Amino acid sequence: MTQNPQLTMALSKGRIFEETLPLLEQAGIVVTEHPDQSRKLILPTSRDDLRILIVRASDVPTYVQYGAADFGIAGKDVLYEYSKEHPGGLYQPIDLNIARCRLAVAVREGFDYEAAVRQGARLRVATKYVNVAREHFARKGVYVDIIKLYGSMELAPLVGLADAIVDVVSTGGTLRANGLVAVEDVMPVSSRLIVNQAALKTRAAVLQPILDAFEHATPSQG
Ligand code: ADP
Ligand code: PRP
Ligand code: MG
Repeated sequence: MTQNPQLTMALSKGRIFEETLPLLEQAGIVVTEHPDQSRKLILPTSRDDLRILIVRASDVPTYVQYGAADFGIAGKDVLYEYSKEHPGGLYQPIDLNIARCRLAVAVREGFDYEAAVRQGARLRVATKYVNVAREHFARKGVYVDIIKLYGSMELAPLVGLADAIVDVVSTGGTLRANGLVAVEDVMPVSSRLIVNQAALKTRAAVLQPILDAFEHATPSQG
């Protein structure tokens, strides 16, 4: 068990954790317990000076900005949403090109989104990305009522809670399975390394080699 690790990394379990493991390994770091097999929220690694905090994906920026973690990995969707309320707090040196997907507007099959926009209809939009959605529709000049949800966004148009959603799309399988179609891209998404600004200065000697290793291990675009 690590007593006084010099470095703390924040990660979410699931796809970001899985896709980060090979990057860590290329940096010579092995995570010695898996969050699916352990209820521990602080995981040791093969390096005595590095530990990993398991947090919700949308909480990673908070841990890093306040210095509870020195660095972490979060999706651009989460980072963009977070930055609207906490501008400039995080250093984002590397796009790791993992957990790739996109944010898109989706509606029920048969809902004429273009016509609704053209006619200046007021749209009810369900999303967990309220800032991203508000900015997207403001840029288009579309009036929206945003309905904040925490998950299963695809359900909202099916039960009359919303006309549209803004959510993550990857294969499109979830939209198809629920009779929805993507009608507009909002932004491409991949995960980025984020670093606490004070740690970057005070812990540069231990942090920088890890950041360099991540940079070299990052899968190329395409
Ligand atoms: P959550 O509990 O917030 O849904 P996830 O592990 O599903 O956590 O998502 C973490 C990040 O992975 C998201 O912020 C997004 O950047 C990316 N992501 C989410 N869904 C997908 C997907 N289906 N395919 C690829 N990347 C995704
Ligand atoms: C994510 C996202 C979409 C789905 C899109 O859900 O919230 O529902 O992936 O991916 P697709 O286009 O390949 O179907 P996730 O699998 O993370 O489930 P959860 O967040 O609801 O647990
Ligand atoms: Mg998810």
